[in-house]
Amino acid sequence: MDLIIKNGTIINAKESYTADIAVKDGKIACIGTGLDMKADQVVDAKGMLVLPGGIDVHTHLAMPFGGTVSADSYLAGTRAAACGGVTTVFDYPIQRKGRGIVETVKERMAMCDPEACVDYAFHCCITDLNEGAILDEFQSAVDYGVTSFKCFLVYKKEGLMVDDGSLVKILLKAKEVGAMTNIHAENPDLIDMYVAQFKAEGKLSAWYHYMSRPEFVEAEADKRAVHWAKSVDGSLYIVHMADKEGLEAALEAKRQGYNIYIETCPQYLEFTSDVYKREDGRNFVCSPPIKGQESQDALWEAIRLGGIDTVATDHCPFQSFEKDWGKDDFTKIPNGCAGIENLYPYMLSAANQGKISFNRAVELCAENPAKLFGCAEKGSLTVGKDADIVIYDPKKDFTISVENMHSDYDHTIWEGKKVKGYPVKTFVRGTLVYADGEFTGKPGFGKYVKRIPKK
Ligand code: URP
Ligand code: ZN
Ligand code: ZN
Repeated sequence: MDLIIKNGTIINAKESYTADIAVKDGKIACIGTGLDMKADQVVDAKGMLVLPGGIDVHTHLAMPFGGTVSADSYLAGTRAAACGGVTTVFDYPIQRKGRGIVETVKERMAMCDPEACVDYAFHCCITDLNEGAILDEFQSAVDYGVTSFKCFLVYKKEGLMVDDGSLVKILLKAKEVGAMTNIHAENPDLIDMYVAQFKAEGKLSAWYHYMSRPEFVEAEADKRAVHWAKSVDGSLYIVHMADKEGLEAALEAKRQGYNIYIETCPQYLEFTSDVYKREDGRNFVCSPPIKGQESQDALWEAIRLGGIDTVATDHCPFQSFEKDWGKDDFTKIPNGCAGIENLYPYMLSAANQGKISFNRAVELCAENPAKLFGCAEKGSLTVGKDADIVIYDPKKDFTISVENMHSDYDHTIWEGKKVKGYPVKTFVRGTLVYADGEFTGKPGFGKYVKRIPKK
């Protein structure tokens, strides 16, 4: 064997037990008690939890956005992922007018592949149907391993928005090829209306980012997307769900048996819209904005009861000088925050403190992402799967600071956050990429994950 991890408590979504894990050629070769085999490397995990690597299905690395490019390159973002126990990241390339899906993805892959420190996959954002040619390309995209397409119902002026007719066409075509339609739900007309009003009134602090996109602005678009998905029986995945009313509509559709899936992000679980009143409120500006306490409570309730399917980060950090562009005008703040290194520790800490079970944290951050997005080799500690493994010390206290993160950004909304328990080792396909605070991997080691459509 190449590696044996001994005496740890294995946590999968539906089971926890003490056993040893043996790894050969990057795969989990055997799981059992008292494994007595020769191995090149033996790790004693007594007192530790042994978890499947996290899968962050929502990141924007080196993304041109808001008049700049997000601060983490593929190298920095995936290095940080490794150090936070995330072994696969999904990025969101954006198809531009007149361009194809596979060419868009290949262009980003050429950037990502030499830099990736963990495994990676792509959803593709569709911004233009190219008179139907894009729909004709869906099958080729799926054959290439891209089995999910994202529609922005916002960012109209930025040229990213998809109208309702196009959304329905995408839902239908995606169903035909076994793909998922991901949606960013907010109402652009209401946002534009409020932005114009607040500008005219000279209301330009970060608080008015939230006030121009409050709960009901997100809820309308959530409900509209759910309505179309129900109408054509499509598979809909709502990204970064942040509001109670939209959440309830999506949960109701799920209860009715529709293929509606819900993602939320740690920033919506930890903070409330009050952060936008802070002096550094601009650093928290993301879209949809962080909502009020009622929404946060509803999100946690849905996490506990099983209605939310995944937690991912929407990692899209910008440097302080870029956030400062909007010091006196919230419309100039690039939208997005950091989180890739905090996802798994945050959700596991919630488990460690009894808010949810460790199994549920693993389900939200590893098993469900793998199942929903067709990563057949990933998501659980099972014989035959990739040996993407995190060793987690439940007793280790950790305070998040920009100083102990492994990204390229210069500030984090998570500064000072204390978590209970922390990853101490991360293996990607059996190779150690993080140990005790240090990145030990290599850029270019990460491999493209070719995904399998639902059929
Ligand atoms: O503010 C955000 N979320 N920035 C990234 C782009 C997006 O909308 O997901
Ligand atoms: Zn979004
Ligand atoms: Zn996003």
